[in-house]
Amino acid sequence: MNALLSATGLHVTFPGRRGDPPARAVDGVDLDIGAGEIVALVGESGCGKTTLARSLLGLVRPTSGSVTFAGAPLTYRSAELKAYRRRVQLVLQDPSGSLNPRHTVYDAVAEGLRIHGVPGDERAAVASALSRAGLRPPERFFLRYPHELSGGQRQRVVIAGALVLEPELIVADEPVASLDASVRGEVLALLLRLRTELGLSALVVTHDLGLAWNIADRVAVMYLGRVVETGTVEEVLSAPRHPYTRALLSVLPESPTDPVVLAGEPPDPSRIPAGCRFHARCQVLASGEADRAGLAGACRTRDLPVLAGRGRAAACHVHGGPP
Ligand SMILES: Nc1ncnc2c1ncn2[C@@H]1O[C@H](COP(=O)(O)OP(=O)(O)O)[C@@H](O)[C@H]1O
Ligand code: SF4
Ligand SMILES: [Mg+2]
Repeated sequence: MNALLSATGLHVTFPGRRGDPPARAVDGVDLDIGAGEIVALVGESGCGKTTLARSLLGLVRPTSGSVTFAGAPLTYRSAELKAYRRRVQLVLQDPSGSLNPRHTVYDAVAEGLRIHGVPGDERAAVASALSRAGLRPPERFFLRYPHELSGGQRQRVVIAGALVLEPELIVADEPVASLDASVRGEVLALLLRLRTELGLSALVVTHDLGLAWNIADRVAVMYLGRVVETGTVEEVLSAPRHPYTRALLSVLPESPTDPVVLAGEPPDPSRIPAGCRFHARCQVLASGEADRAGLAGACRTRDLPVLAGRGRAAACHVHGGPP
């Protein structure tokens, strides 16, 4: 499959806070999203998911590395960025935060058309986007305000605001984190339907591996600025290799294994450890398993290569190979 969106060697470094060293929020990432593919980017809070997503959208300029869309590298020239931001749409996590309380649903959805100066029948375009987002009949929602809608309906308005521009790719940052479980399922089903009906590609950013299971074709697990495991959903969730992925899976309610409690400090991108960046918290190292395999020294001193943007791989000296 040809990649629609590709990141290569992406780094995003922020200046350190209060005399801290610089924060390497994204620290060497390759990632591919194919046409019509849904990729889930998972990892705990603070691991760099939003920063990576924003750099893919051209909202943050990477410190180094490149982003390529439909074969052409992003140049960060303003006219090109504007055209790019029409083809690749961001759907934000908090629908009440991303909707202006004083704008009607109609104006919220039409806003993108106006910003991009899209010609044609605005009313028909807004109606069609609302309808595709599952708000039917659309005219009934035109004059409503965000506070008159449920959380799920607000999220659909945000999705309609993206769809109205007929994007090729949607980047959804924690799209259902703030919704009730019942509404969450509905919104996820909507994203899946859009893929089938419109051939839309999506990057779904989430801290919830269970959600990835329901929606994605492929998964990239991120830890402290790097992707540490990639594969199809089936491969990663049924046969996880990286100890971090295993720990994340072990705390899901349906997990057959005992929960793994991660040792050590929560990760800090200003202080990425030498060796394997996960080593201070790794259960495979702590239990002596890495030592028995003769690899404990490597865990503490040898960094792992950046994983390719596609394919099945884990960045681990002990469990990196096939099981
Ligand atoms: N503008 C910024 N300036 C400095 N540090 C930032 C900035 N944005 C994010 N960070 C830091 O980068 C790291 C990754 O953040 P983020 O990408 O938001 O992670 P996630 O979305 O996985 O929770 C965090 O440690 C965060 O504090
Ligand atoms: S390389 Fe070593 S420390 Fe890192 S995840 Fe694998 S076993 Fe754990
Ligand atoms: Mg985030």
